[in-house]
Amino acid sequence: MARSIRQLFKQSFSLFIALGLILPSLSYAQGNSEEKKMEWFGDAKLGIFIHWGIYAVNGIDESWSFYNGYISHEDYIKQAEGFGAENYKPKEWAKLIKSSGVQYAVITTKHHDGFSLWNTALGNFNAVKHSKAGKDLITPFVKAIRKENLKVGLYYSLPDWSSDLYTHFTNTEKRYKIADEPERWENFLSYYQGQLSELSEAYNPDLWWFDGDWEHKAEEWKAKETRAMLLAKNPNTIINARLSENGDYATPEQGVPLMKPESPFWELCMTMNDSWGFQHNDTNYKTPNQIIRIFVDCLRLGGNLLLDIGPKADGTIPEEQAAILTELGRWTNKHKEAIYGTQAGIPLDYFYGPTTLSKDKKTLYVFLAHKPNGPIVIRGLKNKVNRIRVVGQGTKLSQQVHNKPYWSNKAGLLYFEVPEAALDAQVTVVALQLDGEIQLDDK
Ligand code: GLC
Repeated sequence: MARSIRQLFKQSFSLFIALGLILPSLSYAQGNSEEKKMEWFGDAKLGIFIHWGIYAVNGIDESWSFYNGYISHEDYIKQAEGFGAENYKPKEWAKLIKSSGVQYAVITTKHHDGFSLWNTALGNFNAVKHSKAGKDLITPFVKAIRKENLKVGLYYSLPDWSSDLYTHFTNTEKRYKIADEPERWENFLSYYQGQLSELSEAYNPDLWWFDGDWEHKAEEWKAKETRAMLLAKNPNTIINARLSENGDYATPEQGVPLMKPESPFWELCMTMNDSWGFQHNDTNYKTPNQIIRIFVDCLRLGGNLLLDIGPKADGTIPEEQAAILTELGRWTNKHKEAIYGTQAGIPLDYFYGPTTLSKDKKTLYVFLAHKPNGPIVIRGLKNKVNRIRVVGQGTKLSQQVHNKPYWSNKAGLLYFEVPEAALDAQVTVVALQLDGEIQLDDK
């Protein structure tokens, strides 16, 4: 069985590779440059991450709970019997997701536990053949998300700890070493790449979100070939860096960057509480205020936020998570112009807080997380400011410039006050319309 699967996928895989080598050069010729390809992603700023799987039944850590020995593999797998998706309403998910202001949605098609949420022809451990749900959960999701005009991202774990073809089983048990059983590993490669070609054929995702590459080297994963195969199908698809560095953007996890990451494109993935999947017992939610402020921290450094939700086993989105999305939606909708399509703001030396810049660099957006106790001050701004206004609210603010004697080339101190009535319940945003592209003093 494994052998015939392997042959089948070897054939289609070599075709994919051949195309993968030819097509990227063609796409460049058509003007499909890397920069163009990344444009929507750079502008999107906010995405939703969805961790859904059998682990929601007991409400335990996705995959890691058996890997780390907190539950036996056998008992972990049994959760599939309770994974019913009875109240799964992908259209409602998509509406709620859209209303939060996200521009793309990334769902776990398969986590490290190896449980596939789509109807894979490779293996039986999937939602259709091996769960109470008995149905494909990805197809209706992709359809609903695209209907809302959002981009589709597929999370796929390279490791498959339940597959007999895979090297690692738990943190104490390994099945084999590649050097000892190269054929077995080849079979695994055909299996995982076979699943990827199924997914790309069926859903043609805008983005691939790989995970778990740390367990093997890039050459062992055949990461380059995998990238070529996916790009052959869709030269515009975006791949995260967790394909052993064969990706297009960096994915810091949980830890909010303090400085601008090196990679021009990056995305912070973050949980709302302390869990990726649904856990009844985890009530340690961040407030909408905290989440919005973390989002603003990503914006000021030119990055995206991929905010995670973990639906329950029956397919409902937990109330606390829905409430966060709703408040996030109110805020993003009001402040759209300061969020989407913006770029990193100015260094903290010029304003002691987060800022973003419009694409043409002629509008500076200033984010205020607190009630000001006096005027806001911007230092070192050389431009004349034509107008200052509260975003999404309209109030025009007056300005004062101090410390700018006529004989000095240095910018003065720009002051403006924001009246209490114009403040947002979470983070207030003020737009400074400049007389041209922003210019800052360098000392
Ligand atoms: C980690 C974990 C995984 C989670 C992922 C999300 O790499 O292995 O459980 O899905 O982060 O970023």
